[in-house]
Amino acid sequence: MRYLFLLFVAAPGVLQAEDFQGSSHKLEYEEVPIAYSTQTPSGPVAMLQAKIESGEVKLKWDADFGYLPALLKALDVPVSSQLLVFSKTSLQRSFISPKVPRALYFNDNVYIGYIPEAPMIEVSEVDPRLGGVFYDLEQTAAYKPRFERNADCMQCHGGNRSLGIPGHIIRSIGTDERGEIDSQSEVSEITHCTPLADRWAGWYVTGQHGGQIHRGNLAGAEAFEHQIREPNYLGNLSDVKNLLDTSNYLAPTSDIVAHLVLEHQSHMHNYVTRLRYETELMMATYGHIRYLDRQIDAFLRYLLFTEEAPLSEPIAGNAEFMRDFTARGPRDSKGRSLRDFDLQTRLFKYPCSFLIYTESFDQIPAVMSERIYQRLWDILNGWDARFATLPEKSRNEVKEILLATKKGLPGYWHAPASVP
Ligand code: HEC
Repeated sequence: MRYLFLLFVAAPGVLQAEDFQGSSHKLEYEEVPIAYSTQTPSGPVAMLQAKIESGEVKLKWDADFGYLPALLKALDVPVSSQLLVFSKTSLQRSFISPKVPRALYFNDNVYIGYIPEAPMIEVSEVDPRLGGVFYDLEQTAAYKPRFERNADCMQCHGGNRSLGIPGHIIRSIGTDERGEIDSQSEVSEITHCTPLADRWAGWYVTGQHGGQIHRGNLAGAEAFEHQIREPNYLGNLSDVKNLLDTSNYLAPTSDIVAHLVLEHQSHMHNYVTRLRYETELMMATYGHIRYLDRQIDAFLRYLLFTEEAPLSEPIAGNAEFMRDFTARGPRDSKGRSLRDFDLQTRLFKYPCSFLIYTESFDQIPAVMSERIYQRLWDILNGWDARFATLPEKSRNEVKEILLATKKGLPGYWHAPASVP
């Protein structure tokens, strides 16, 4: 049975080595100047906690789902972002199985994990300075529910699988019928560069993807074997009602477009944090960031999707998720947004991450953000040969959209273009 999983991992291992994206060793973030665990977070969850304490917000308890519906509402996380993962990976692993997967919900700066009947909801926020901060919320009705920062989460979210910083993990890992993982089949750090054929083992996936094969919806060697005989076995599902009791969840889907967005954004979040940490460490040690040129290059390649795995056929997902996601804008005077989907040959129409609008991006220390903006300006004007693969049309579109919508651009961006 094991050999079957091995068949699936050989290729991704090779690909990842070639696809090296800057360094990812674990950084010393518990020491000064970062001192991660001793800092007080100021992200959306920390802010919600303050509002609960002051009485400004009350989280309503729901008889079926506990705090989940109220939490999604309070943090502005759409139900349509729901994804279902059945590999047993979490502090609450015993509650997870293919029949009772963990549901994940997300927006630009919060991730929420919910398992039916489990004692706690798992939450991670993107703190503008600290990066990923991890909390549990007890699923028992309380006068003032509390998010507790939980050090145990760092066993897995502490860096070895998340670019060396406290961060988000998305991986593809085969399981048996009960959801027990086969670690030899792991493809860790799923990003927008990972070919679809390597994605989604251990997850449910709904939506249309034509003849493109992925590893979602398969639990156990028999299911993987079946997929070899019948290439799109359990592919192109519109919901997962035939695979589990979906009344335990807020939606019957684990949407393919939400998957693609999550996999782009979780790695982008980790990258922004990595860049911030490295800048702080370099400035504290050397007083300059000249050694980070390669890291900046890798960051920009990811920001601009230059190594995105192409789609070989169109993808169609849940219209509600796409509506919820694109409605967040912003848009330029021609109605264009970095959140507009392509889904024909790639995820987004305009190749620059929408996370450029986040507070985390704006909080990258000035010494680094000045470099990023300078490089980005050169790239978008076609002056950087290393980014020659970006088509001129895309470069111009991204430049125009950013000029119209991104606050805090350096003054020279708004001056008429001149060759440096
Ligand atoms: C045993 C390892 C492990 C531990 C411990 C763990 N997680 Fe995770 N977590 C994962 C993995 C792996 C994923 C990716 C999804 C998957 O494969 O299940 C994940 C994903 C998540 C996600 C979705 C997005 C993200 O941020 O990566 C959240 C939220 C999350 N975990 C919260 C927590 C919280 C809160 C704790 C502590 C209470 C915790 N986790 C402890 C392994 C772990």
